Amino acid sequence: MGILDKHVVLEKNATLLLVGSLLVVTVGGIVEIAPLFYLENTIEDVDGMRPYSPLELEGRNIYVREGCYVCHSQMIRPMRDEVERYGHYSLAAESQYDHPFQWGSKRTGPDLARVGGRYSDEWHVDHLKDPQSVVPESVMPKYAFLADRLIEPTYIQDLMKANQIVGVPYTDEQMENAEADWLAQADPDSDYDGLLARYPKAQVRNFDGAPGVSEMDALIAYMQMLGTLVDFSTFTPDASR
Ligand code: HEC
Repeated sequence: MGILDKHVVLEKNATLLLVGSLLVVTVGGIVEIAPLFYLENTIEDVDGMRPYSPLELEGRNIYVREGCYVCHSQMIRPMRDEVERYGHYSLAAESQYDHPFQWGSKRTGPDLARVGGRYSDEWHVDHLKDPQSVVPESVMPKYAFLADRLIEPTYIQDLMKANQIVGVPYTDEQMENAEADWLAQADPDSDYDGLLARYPKAQVRNFDGAPGVSEMDALIAYMQMLGTLVDFSTFTPDASR
């Protein structure tokens, strides 16, 4: 009796086939999933990634509130057309401090994972106030009101605390300086050495060019940081994972 003849028994008995299938799926599942329980971390460490600065985090909150993720992804897939258009494919580490993640599921507009540094602050101000003024065929809504909404760092510590609870490793020093760092990043005349020590590569500017800190400042600070933290000239993928 050959192996195929034996298989006929399974194929002709629905109950036996069901039990057999369940067995195969169970073994397969255990083989795939069990090792994950023994890994300390499934995200490889990448130089340069750090928790968001207070002002970047504030801007990120505005990005989420306004639903920018409905039209924009932040996830460059490792395929040639994407990498040529947007830059190095996204690494898991690059969204490790995102709660919730902003990968998105639809691209009405371009991917924004590496939009940092691609345009000037002035471009962003013009574009957010009136997208059609810089890209006439754009279907992006206007967000001019963001420039009029002046904000204060009243709740920034709470926001960082909430992120800490879900795993973002803000240090005591970062928590204590939350308000000062938030203010310093939007004011190029401030003493921002501490901010830069706590958040390397943080960009310090009056992002919207207007007096006071507005939601526009925070949102642009966030966007100008996107994709700029990891230095890809020194990055080599870890083949052991
Ligand atoms: C209804 C869909 C839609 C929404 C919502 C939307 N955008 Fe856009 N966005 C677009 C489209 C379409 C483009 C391409 C045309 C253009 O540049 O305006 C674009 C372009 C952009 C660009 C330029 C990207 C590049 O690489 O050229 C940025 C930056 C941007 N959007 C930021 C935002 C932010 C921040 C928000 C939330 C405040 C937002 N968008 C909300 C549709 C949208």
